[in-house]
Amino acid sequence: MDLSQDARPGITHHRMIIDGSAVDSISGDRINIECPANKQIFASVPRGGIEDVEKAVTAATSSFAAWSSIAPRERGRLLLKIADALEPEMEPLACIIAKETGNAIRTQARPEAMSVVEIFRYFGGLGSELKGETIPLGETVLSYTRREPFGVVGAIIPWNAPVMLGVLKIAPALCAGNTIVMKAAEDAPLGILKIAEICQKILPKGVVNLITGTGAECGKPLSEHSGIRKLSFTGSTPVGKMIMRAASERIIPVSLELGGKSPSIVYPDANEEWAIEGIIAAMRFTRQSQSCTAGSRLFLHNKIFDSFLEKLVSKLDKLKIGNPLDETVDIGAIINEKQFTKVQGYIEDGLNNPEANLLCGGLPPKMGPLSEGYFAVPTIFENKSNNWRLAREEIFGPVLVAIRWDNEKEVLKMANDSHYGLAAYVWTRDITRGLNTAHALEAGWVQVNQGLGQVPGHSYGGYKQSGIGREFSLEGMLDSFTQRKNVTINLATPPSPLV
Ligand code: NAI
Ligand code: MG
Repeated sequence: MDLSQDARPGITHHRMIIDGSAVDSISGDRINIECPANKQIFASVPRGGIEDVEKAVTAATSSFAAWSSIAPRERGRLLLKIADALEPEMEPLACIIAKETGNAIRTQARPEAMSVVEIFRYFGGLGSELKGETIPLGETVLSYTRREPFGVVGAIIPWNAPVMLGVLKIAPALCAGNTIVMKAAEDAPLGILKIAEICQKILPKGVVNLITGTGAECGKPLSEHSGIRKLSFTGSTPVGKMIMRAASERIIPVSLELGGKSPSIVYPDANEEWAIEGIIAAMRFTRQSQSCTAGSRLFLHNKIFDSFLEKLVSKLDKLKIGNPLDETVDIGAIINEKQFTKVQGYIEDGLNNPEANLLCGGLPPKMGPLSEGYFAVPTIFENKSNNWRLAREEIFGPVLVAIRWDNEKEVLKMANDSHYGLAAYVWTRDITRGLNTAHALEAGWVQVNQGLGQVPGHSYGGYKQSGIGREFSLEGMLDSFTQRKNVTINLATPPSPLV
């Protein structure tokens, strides 16, 4: 069988990147990539397995000694070169992201593509920040620390913002002197593969390896490989737990960036346009709410409950759903049939709950152009309780739950009553109130009066079951991709005679 081409017309054939080369899987098996907006298969990637993981880890291990001995500022300079090489590729990259994820090009895919240049530039400038400390132990001792890389990082990424989340691991891992084997998500591997290809033009071979395959066949053996010295995972909480177990077998560090069920608390003084727009952004409606950071529990003060929701519904109504490659479209399609069915299941649950009141949206359209893809519509349920399934579980789809409050203590209690703790949002013109509430919320990232705003440089990550570790910043790079070595020298030994 000729593995170099897919015989099916119109279907592009992609390879993974191991040891600087584009390769098929050893088995020759492939995974079809479907566009969620029209359910058409348009590409295929290798279905990597345990032997391919072995090859990739071997390559990353061989390249480690040379890579880690390059001066950090020089490694940073190479990351800056990658950023320059990526810049002209932004538009084709945005189209790939839109096609494979179903995310709308104007609102999501293009901004995501642009973010990767910024991320490489940010970490490219941090080489000289890999500093250690000296410890003041007196005149007869010199004690200092070095920041050393772990070795080979095993990274596993999801499909919801595949390119940004991938680069947020590659750039800091490399700057710190590690090499990497990354497994792409089976639903959206093409954008990050393109980035890995461009990296090969600038980096020594084996420093960045990008493998494709399923979680069970490719992700699991990667997480269990004895050559991996650090695991970095973004995805669901159940798989995160498996990754942590695999790490515990070999006592290696893990970073986990998992799910969320983030609260948005709106005070009566924020019953205004900017707050409504902020709620739409916080809920990531224009990414079909497929975001771990989505502000999916909306706590609205009793005084403004109805009028706020009325304005929110009318704004959501104006958002255009459709073909992700259409510049006028705001909202694209859900990633795949599994997620689409899962989201529908939550909506059915809401419709069947006599205490829940549907305010807008509902089940996905069954006829017309939107029925040709996995399109869901922004949906809001009003309910008194924070204790039903839709208010507790991560839906990862455009289903927002609105809950009334009138007592500040109670709303904080409800907001914190979740096993998740990734993000939170507070909306008020009263700065003292806003800050006190931000400090009382159990979440790794609280935003006051804004819904978006994730930038490289801010330490991003979760409390509770939303994860462990931070990666997006200088501190994140130091904590997650380096280990400290202490060197202590006794300066009291008698000097040797001068010869
Ligand atoms: P998932 O957690 O199964 O997939 C994420 C990555 O982990 C993929 O690359 C997958 O191949 C890999 N993986 C799966 N099983 C594995 C295993 N046993 N060992 C190693 N790697 C494995 O997420 P999935 O199934 O795509 O989505 C399910 C739910 O997860 C969503 O509905 C959402 O609630 C949550 N999710 C959260 C994300 C986040 O950003 N925190 C991203 C994606 C999904
Ligand atoms: Mg797909």
